[in-house]
Amino acid sequence: MSDDPVLELSGVDSGYGEMQVLDDCSLHLDPEEIVCLIGPNGAGKSTVLKTVFGLLTPWAGTVTYHGRDIGGMAPEDVVREGIGYVPQTDNVFNSLSVEENLRMGGVARKGGLDRVIGDLYDRFPLLDEKRSAKARTLSGGQRQVLAFARALVMEPDVLLIDEPSAGLAPNTADDVFGHVQAVNELDTAILMVEQNATKGLGISDRGYVLDQGTVRFQGDAADLLDNEEVSKLYLGG
Ligand SMILES: Nc1ncnc2c1ncn2[C@@H]1O[C@H](COP(=O)(O)OP(=O)(O)OP(=O)(O)O)[C@@H](O)[C@H]1O
Ligand SMILES: [Mg+2]
Repeated sequence: MSDDPVLELSGVDSGYGEMQVLDDCSLHLDPEEIVCLIGPNGAGKSTVLKTVFGLLTPWAGTVTYHGRDIGGMAPEDVVREGIGYVPQTDNVFNSLSVEENLRMGGVARKGGLDRVIGDLYDRFPLLDEKRSAKARTLSGGQRQVLAFARALVMEPDVLLIDEPSAGLAPNTADDVFGHVQAVNELDTAILMVEQNATKGLGISDRGYVLDQGTVRFQGDAADLLDNEEVSKLYLGG
């Protein structure tokens, strides 16, 4: 595999209607990395993921995936390209069963759906045990694992994950971070937004601090955790 980034945002402006959120935002994700995006509420972290996934069209700059411009491509095409997305909220269909959620995740597949769902049951036994359970009956942590698995049905090589630990008790959050690492070990590069910056950076290779739509700090995750200014301004240290 080449060392070129799998995903790269370069000078991206983006927003909602008239309201600009991202301002000259540049970041990249290399193959096999976990990269964590941190920053205050409203900084534009979710907007970065939505712009990559085609839910928003960049106003300026480029979004490239394996060197090809995907800026403004429709989400269903972005999924087919190989990018999965686990949104911050409403990331499973509560009224559908675990199995139905996984099948929904694979509607754009050309074949091999039963094989990939079988593999996911092997990988996530908690889902195997709950195949027929409605998603609404799962715990918060189980639901988050279902949301990951749903995105993995398309066998993406990039997974965008928005706040995997939101609303979870610390132990459950640790389990979910463990699943993020396990997914990454199967050669899926991960761009993760995380409110729990210390834990998020703790499992990441690199990180970016986004503030007011612009990258303020970037570097190896360990260096960001050690950086006094980052710690004081963004880690509550
Ligand atoms: N659908 C929307 N329509 C209009 N404005 C929006 C929409 N979604 C987000 N915004 C605004 O865009 C800005 C950035 O939002 P975004 O969701 O990207 O922030 P965030 O960094 O993910 O914050 P949080 O940590 O709270 O999730 C905020 O000012 C927010 O109010
Ligand atoms: Mg957000």
